[in-house]
Amino acid sequence: MGIKTIDWKENSIKIIDQTLLPGKLEYLSIRDLKTLWSAIRQLKVRGAPVLGAAAGLGVYLGIKDSGAADFRYFFQELEQVIRYLGSARPTARNLFWGLERMKNAARENKSRTIKALKKILFTEALKIIEEDRFACRKIGFYGAKLLKNGDNVLTVCNAGILATIDYGTALGVVYRAKHDGKKIKVFACETRPLLQGARLTTWELKRNGVDVTLLCDNMAAVLMNQGKIDKVITGADRIVCNGDAANKIGSYSLAILCKHHKIPFYIAAPFSTFDLNLKTGKEIIIEERRSSEVTDLFFKKPVAPKGIKVFNPAFDVTPHEFINAIITERGVIRPPFQKNIAILGAKI
Ligand code: MRU
Repeated sequence: MGIKTIDWKENSIKIIDQTLLPGKLEYLSIRDLKTLWSAIRQLKVRGAPVLGAAAGLGVYLGIKDSGAADFRYFFQELEQVIRYLGSARPTARNLFWGLERMKNAARENKSRTIKALKKILFTEALKIIEEDRFACRKIGFYGAKLLKNGDNVLTVCNAGILATIDYGTALGVVYRAKHDGKKIKVFACETRPLLQGARLTTWELKRNGVDVTLLCDNMAAVLMNQGKIDKVITGADRIVCNGDAANKIGSYSLAILCKHHKIPFYIAAPFSTFDLNLKTGKEIIIEERRSSEVTDLFFKKPVAPKGIKVFNPAFDVTPHEFINAIITERGVIRPPFQKNIAILGAKI
């Protein structure tokens, strides 16, 4: 859709620096692991599916110049790279899924030469990217069937082109519905404290000709009460066996509001976001971020007393009983989630 969120170019990882949007569309070339780690931590590159791609390309970046003479030493280096990248952010499953895929690709090819192994790992990273492109298109295809002409959709954070390789998950559903000729209006929650909704979602929707209205996070209930929201669709960072889903802080409150106002609450995510090792959302590690994001970051002067205690979780978990359906590349999953996730999760 005109921009590449992440790519491999001239021996480096090329990303859009998302912290500069909407002011500037600027690309960064990342040539070393430390810079990649910081870019992930600082949300220059962000969104669960993109983190899966960053994991794949990051592992290749970390081992492409390895001088290891045999598999044992090569694998040790690879494990070190994986541990390091895995420490950048804890919640998005895709980051770990991407790292595990790279590790498995190396393990399955242990008899190959180191030169061949490097090539295999590069191909695996590109495969992750291509699979996400395909998955998002399928999510769009299945999700758009849930939207009616004239629907008003509310979303939070950014689960669009900028969070994926292309098209997006929650926003992919909107793009596809628009492509199918449906008139859809989007209401974007600003998404305090890092404003992914205000900065990123509005930017990409406007750029792609979607009618979008920005609101502060605490305004969603009023809109729903006025009957102005037909559906809520969000992305996810990690979905577990029973359907509990972690996503950007604020998603849980939207789901509760939906239940009260009888509005369907949908999650859109690829299977790379599912963590079938965890039984319930209580087991998901929620990232807590620095206090200055709440008190200072987007202000000229701090807006809270210096040293004030701050609660700043980056994500929350929506219990499955508040979710009407999960839109995936394999189809739409409805309750009972435990059973239906297992059925679709076992496919392929
Ligand atoms: O902290 P962020 O900006 O990485 O959080 C991202 C989200 O919560 C997204 O909704 C999620 O990763 C899904 S992206 C398709």
